[in-house]
Amino acid sequence: MLNRKDLLGLRDVSAEEITLILDNAEEMKRLVNSGKKSFDLLKGKTLITLFYENSTRTRSSFELAGKYLGATEINISASSSSVQKGETLIDTGKTLQALKADFIAIRHPMGGAPHLLAKTVGCSILNGGDGMNEHPTQALLDMLTMRETFGSLKGLKVAILGDIKHSRVAKSNLFGLTKMGAEVWVYAPKTLIPRGFDELGAHIATSREQCVDGANAVMGLRIQLERQSGGLFPSLSEYSKFYGVNDEVLSHADKNAVVLHPGPVNRGVELTPQVIDGEKSRIEDQVTSGLSVRMAALMLLNEYREANL
Ligand code: CP
Repeated sequence: MLNRKDLLGLRDVSAEEITLILDNAEEMKRLVNSGKKSFDLLKGKTLITLFYENSTRTRSSFELAGKYLGATEINISASSSSVQKGETLIDTGKTLQALKADFIAIRHPMGGAPHLLAKTVGCSILNGGDGMNEHPTQALLDMLTMRETFGSLKGLKVAILGDIKHSRVAKSNLFGLTKMGAEVWVYAPKTLIPRGFDELGAHIATSREQCVDGANAVMGLRIQLERQSGGLFPSLSEYSKFYGVNDEVLSHADKNAVVLHPGPVNRGVELTPQVIDGEKSRIEDQVTSGLSVRMAALMLLNEYREANL
């Protein structure tokens, strides 16, 4: 059993817990792929998605995960809620608790917002991305996609190229993948590599070829223009030319390598359209994995709630 009320990040989640979530997600995927999309495993439970930032994949897959499992599910977007009238996150959380929510999946521009909510309310909090901090279910779905392809994560080389500095996906993947015995290499303009990333276990490549050389998985990360104040690299076209992934760059990876991207992709910037739509691309599989990972996370947190709360 997952011994926690909330899923806030992978920094403090053990390899055993990651394996448990991935095993359960695999089982969920098998059920959904068999055509069954209606279960009563979370019947009587309520999931609220509370998103203070835009999302397509994370929000819709949390919503569908709840619905497929039989939970009552509603979405609150900050833009149309009382947040616009000045309500605090804590007061919003207490309101949702008073409405008997069991689970809140939250995305927030401030790192640590889900942790604050988790301390304040008895609902189980699932972090759907907090600022530049973590995006645990994204890293879990990335790991599920890689584990399905290679059978195990142990010994894999994962090359991550893109905006590492502003990326919660890079951090959660680094925490998760290194715990699972994979090597994480990163490459980007120096201004897009966060200080201390090597101390967290990442290998900082000095060239794009070194980063990708022999890699089993090559992950592009979106250039997050909305989180930048500008001046971190000259232009998108130069970024693409010197740091992007194209077929030539990919030829340095292992011959069975797969290409990942959490989405949304800036087509032609992080990855060329040929790479995005090419045979090595697992970008759509990642989205499918996201549904089963979020179903598994809800199921496992529910198990904890039933046993402890
Ligand atoms: N990968 C990801 O978080 O995508 P969304 O922003 O569409 O949720």
